Amino acid sequence: MVDYRINFNEPIPQMIQRLKKEHTNFEIIFKRTEKCINENAIKDAIKIIHDMSESIIKHAVEEEARLMRVIMQNAKEESADSIKIMQEHNWVVDFLKHKLQNIEDEINQQQYHRQQQQQLQLQLQEKVKGEINEFITNLRNHFSEEEQIVFPLALKAD
Ligand SMILES: [Fe+2]
Repeated sequence: MVDYRINFNEPIPQMIQRLKKEHTNFEIIFKRTEKCINENAIKDAIKIIHDMSESIIKHAVEEEARLMRVIMQNAKEESADSIKIMQEHNWVVDFLKHKLQNIEDEINQQQYHRQQQQQLQLQLQEKVKGEINEFITNLRNHFSEEEQIVFPLALKAD
């Protein structure tokens, strides 16, 4: 279980270093997921994303609770882009909490319908691959926007 408590005593510069390190670690996990997808190990790919979801959500909650807080306190007039980037957490959380479950259900249902035409199974596989790849691409872009826009502004506002 991920500990959702936020440490408000951690200095902002130190926290930003840690968040960057977490981005790097997430990237390593994305690479593993992509490898599974390329090998058609769809269930393994889903499991990897499933297992990292709490860590991603905690990471996002921390960014909002601490970085946005200091930005809104001390750099509100420059906050527009950072606010937009933080709003992207909505689709991240939506994917991890709902969409991923739907995908898992679809895949499991497929197993109960063995007689289902192979064509349909392949279609579902390709659809799921596309959805996971898209999630990874979007999250990569999101992390890089944070590192270019949100983190520097939070450092400045600290
Ligand atoms: Fe984020």
